[in-house]
Amino acid sequence: MTQGQLLLPVPTGLLQISETSDLKQTRQSVYFSLVVPTYNEGKNIQRIVAILTSLLDAAYPQNYELIVVDDDSPDRTWELAQQMLDDYPQLRVMRRQIERGLSTAVIRGWQAATGEVLGVIDGDLQHPPEVLVQLLEKIARGADLAVASRHVEGGGTSDWGFIRRMLSRGAQLLGLIVLPSVVGRVSDPMSGYFMVRRGAIADCLMNPLGYKILIEVLGRGQVGEVAEVGYVFQERQEGESKVTWRQYVEYLGHLLKLRSRGRVSRLREKFQFPIGRFLRFGLVGFSGVFVDLAAFYLLRTQLGLPIARSTILSAEVAVINNFLWNDLWTFRDISKYQPGLRPRLKRFLKFNIICLAGIILQALLVSLMHDAFGWNEFLAKLLAIAIVTFWNFWINLKLSWRVTDVKK
Ligand code: GDD
Ligand code: MN
Repeated sequence: MTQGQLLLPVPTGLLQISETSDLKQTRQSVYFSLVVPTYNEGKNIQRIVAILTSLLDAAYPQNYELIVVDDDSPDRTWELAQQMLDDYPQLRVMRRQIERGLSTAVIRGWQAATGEVLGVIDGDLQHPPEVLVQLLEKIARGADLAVASRHVEGGGTSDWGFIRRMLSRGAQLLGLIVLPSVVGRVSDPMSGYFMVRRGAIADCLMNPLGYKILIEVLGRGQVGEVAEVGYVFQERQEGESKVTWRQYVEYLGHLLKLRSRGRVSRLREKFQFPIGRFLRFGLVGFSGVFVDLAAFYLLRTQLGLPIARSTILSAEVAVINNFLWNDLWTFRDISKYQPGLRPRLKRFLKFNIICLAGIILQALLVSLMHDAFGWNEFLAKLLAIAIVTFWNFWINLKLSWRVTDVKK
């Protein structure tokens, strides 16, 4: 073995690919970088590097790089690859000793890549290498992402049994249910054989779980046009698959993770009615009724105030009660960003004005429903209370406890 051919340093920190490769200063950059993730592929590594090299030498002479990312395989795949460095000038080898896992291996490989187009292919020859050229053609014609698929024209699996097919399709169906906007964009979301334009995933913070890197690319990237090329998933000749039941669990976890962090759900959150907050607001309003009645009783019996003044004063006591509960409980997450007496007084003043406007609105609604439509006055009053509660809640949310101002 010739010494001196160094391994690629392993990128650390965030799983994020930069817009323009930071490595351009230290290394000559290329058009295409293909990552080959490996774990115990000692029996395949030499063959796959030789085949990929001859294909890419013809298509993109000296304008590509092959990056083997090995997770410190016990069979020393990384060492076998390292021994080939002298004979294959476009080959790079990374040996990861701390991090593990297929998806992060791919991202770490891309982080160490200089290419404008980034790709991935399995290291066990189950992905037919010739398809590579067709995938790159799709990118050259403008696709942001080109995926090798078992489920389009020309695609398939060699001789998978019924159970394995069902498991694969079941996983896809599950994906379609949990994350349709992502999984539904390609016919074979399980594919680990694809090329993507660097710009489509640059600066997106990735956080994959498990095996399915394509889902991460679709879920977090800004992928425009997608193209697919059919391929037949070959049977493994050497070595063995690393897939266990664990990968299925991780896959589900990955889907859920993407779903909860996805842009789609953030949008939904923005437009969704804040039910919990509204219920708290309603409960506080309900408590106000009793405070109002109690205050009215005390003002009349203890202080002997006239009925009109007692009504107004007791209503104000209820407003103060409601404000305090809302500020300390219903909208606590918002008011804690605007502490101090002055901002609180300001919120209280707004709350007061809005409640007053609510009473006027209520009066208008009752007379409209009762006088104009001829409805029963108690029904009209009940309906008006419901409408005004919504009004109070919504306007207070927008004006008194302004969510938009403090959401940071
Ligand atoms: N670096 C690294 N780290 N590589 C790994 C790891 C890991 O933890 N686990 C697996 N690999 C490598 C394998 O050495 C192989 O080159 C490739 O990733 C795929 O792993 P296999 O274990 O052979 O997977 P498979 O053939 O069952 O699964 C494939 O299923 C899809 C089709 O359903 C996936 O690998 C997809 O790429 C494929 O398209
Ligand atoms: Mn495989």
